[in-house]
Amino acid sequence: KTLDDLAELTGKRALLRVDINVPMKDGRVTDATRIERVAPTIAELSDRGAKVILLAHFGRPKGKTVSEMSLKPVASAVEEVLDHRVHFATLDQADDAIAKMANGDVLLLENTRFEPGEEKNDPDLATRYAGLGDLYVNDAFSAAHRAHASTEGLAHQLPAYAGRTMQTELEALQKGLGEPERPVVAIVGGAKVSTKIDLLMNLVKKVDAVVVGGGMANTFLAADGIDVQASLCEHDLADTAREIEAEAEKAGCALVLPVDAVVASEFKAGAPSETVSVDAVPAGQMILDAGPQSVEKIKEWIERANTLIWNGPLGAFEIEPFDTATVAAARYAAERTEVGELVSVAGGGDTVAALNHAGVADEFTYVSTAGGAFLKWMEGKTLPGVKALDADD
Ligand code: 3PG
Repeated sequence: KTLDDLAELTGKRALLRVDINVPMKDGRVTDATRIERVAPTIAELSDRGAKVILLAHFGRPKGKTVSEMSLKPVASAVEEVLDHRVHFATLDQADDAIAKMANGDVLLLENTRFEPGEEKNDPDLATRYAGLGDLYVNDAFSAAHRAHASTEGLAHQLPAYAGRTMQTELEALQKGLGEPERPVVAIVGGAKVSTKIDLLMNLVKKVDAVVVGGGMANTFLAADGIDVQASLCEHDLADTAREIEAEAEKAGCALVLPVDAVVASEFKAGAPSETVSVDAVPAGQMILDAGPQSVEKIKEWIERANTLIWNGPLGAFEIEPFDTATVAAARYAAERTEVGELVSVAGGGDTVAALNHAGVADEFTYVSTAGGAFLKWMEGKTLPGVKALDADD
């Protein structure tokens, strides 16, 4: 159910779960993207006359009150984005604060993870939250992989609805892996295979090609007998890498590995680098980016694809020139998307940063701000926060 299923909202107390777990420095929000994403849902509920009570977590305080993890400074950032007053209260102050709310008011409650019952999904805490509202809206896809009291338990205690961001996110993801237009190509990069084993296993069974990039490609190359020298590599995962390769072959999925690489002896801006074939990495050097021939190969796969899903950069993109492959592939995917030839869905913290760095995040069909939740979705797992919205209780 979405907000379209709600007929009358005037005077209703809407408990809205959002993910405003935003990066902060010196008490100020440094990237307000997540706030901007949920702002339309807050504004819609408020404009329709509801009393909007925001529930959100911040960091990982583990059931304790930690002053640096208070959501209070985030309230002003929400206020700025919304251009609307945002009140603030702790859970102990919530009943009084809500009693004073006028229709259309917005109130942010303190970090849900200060409550010991939150991460335990304690039904008593969910009941306590439920007593504060008339209905529940979940707009926090990026926290939906957590079965916590405010993301899961509460959905069973009040009429529950998906917010606008949750709705958009689920529709985009459905286009990416649910009922995608084939061929589907996945780009999976990042440093370590160990964090993405389930994801690769799931993808090779579902998509037509998986392009493996970043540090994790080195583990595959090493498993194939290539000496990657000083490159980041999980040698103990050679068997796992071979298993993934075998699964891909069985499923008829192409596993695309780099054929050339940009290498250097240290990971530092301005470090002298050269391009070599992956089987000719000089002694003591490390692979820091995919080379130009690999980029061409990746572009050919993007060219062939009707759907692209992307998680993880292709090289150490934070430092030039090791951002070349990621930027080239991202720009090419953006071009194909812009002319309507590709549905491109990307997600994960580093991926969003990489696409922003390439200046093309806005050109992708959909860029998810979710980290862990996006990975769980790519692994084909059910997200408890989403499932709870579907439940009939
Ligand atoms: C995120 O930043 O990915 C979400 O806010 C979830 O945070 P968590 O990983 O601490 O549950």
